[in-house]
Amino acid sequence: MTDPMTEPDTLRLDLGRRGYGIVIGRGLLSRAGGLVKPLLRGTRAVIVTDENVGPLYLSPLADGLEAGGVRTSAITVPAGEQSKTFAGLEDVMEQLLDQRIDRKTALVALGGGIVGDLTGFAAATALRGIDFIQVPTSLLAQVDSSVGGKTAINSRHAKNMIGAFHQPRLVLADIDTLTTLPHREVVAGYAEIVKHGLICDPAFFDWCERNGAAVVSGDPAIRQEAVRRSCAIKAGVVAEDETEQGRRALLNFGHTFGHALESETGFSDSLLHGEAVAIGMIMAFDLSHRLGLCPGQDAERVKAHFLQAGLPAGPDYVKGMRWDADALLAHMASDKKAADGKLTFILTRGIGQAFIAADVAPEDVLGVVSEAVAA
Ligand code: GLY
Repeated sequence: MTDPMTEPDTLRLDLGRRGYGIVIGRGLLSRAGGLVKPLLRGTRAVIVTDENVGPLYLSPLADGLEAGGVRTSAITVPAGEQSKTFAGLEDVMEQLLDQRIDRKTALVALGGGIVGDLTGFAAATALRGIDFIQVPTSLLAQVDSSVGGKTAINSRHAKNMIGAFHQPRLVLADIDTLTTLPHREVVAGYAEIVKHGLICDPAFFDWCERNGAAVVSGDPAIRQEAVRRSCAIKAGVVAEDETEQGRRALLNFGHTFGHALESETGFSDSLLHGEAVAIGMIMAFDLSHRLGLCPGQDAERVKAHFLQAGLPAGPDYVKGMRWDADALLAHMASDKKAADGKLTFILTRGIGQAFIAADVAPEDVLGVVSEAVAA
């Protein structure tokens, strides 16, 4: 008898011929061959993973693929942003060519967002473009970066500056891989889950308030539901606006503030991406409230939920950091296209009601940032 708890959910990101399935469930690595093989042009896949994830999940995934008739080989890269560079890409690309890949070979990204972004960009450019499959193993990658086809490496100027939209052929989110993820990374990934409710689905935010503790503490059925609902929201947004000409920018809620905070910490472990986004979303609520767009109690409700879930709600989370509001604003101004001295931000009219505002005055942003860093 099948345990209903182990039944996967399957969603579809509807992009016509470039559309694909997102399968979310337990025990998917061992079943990967049956799910992947029908999508391949050939019978070969090269798994790209990193030194943290490889020892845990490379063998189970390779065995699962081989059992379904997919021939595999692997490339293991160092863990961390150092791999998401020109040098890291060159290393992966030369190894792929050493392995004599052809245009029917698929890449499989096994890991978190860094491995997914790097592998996706390698797939976009190897032999002028080959297929790839995302097997995200971090909560952040399962609910955000593995879906939607953004692939990139970093430049010395900024992160993710060199990349391509290249959609995967399939996303396999195996909830069981989250059991080995450090707790702090689970909590940081949870911020991107809440983000989906905050931008456009107030009922999902209500669900997060009721179930966030179970997501963070490890209930697999609740985690599966959180990933499914997040991916459904993201897939809907991406299907409408694949290359971010408009609505997709809503998915960047909290990211302009968050990115400035990360830049100031030098993208160090003192502030993880999801933590920075959480603080950034609170700042976006505070800015919206300051501009008379959003009730103050919504910002308070979000803050209370973040603190309950173990997420930071303000920059004071980074111990020993002396924040400079002007430096943060400078990051935001350079991050954004300023027109007539105004900045574009994702603001909100309340929980589930985010929108793109192209006319934000820098002095209002500075006001919110100054208050946040003084708190
Ligand atoms: N993470 C935002 C996006 O995929 O558009």
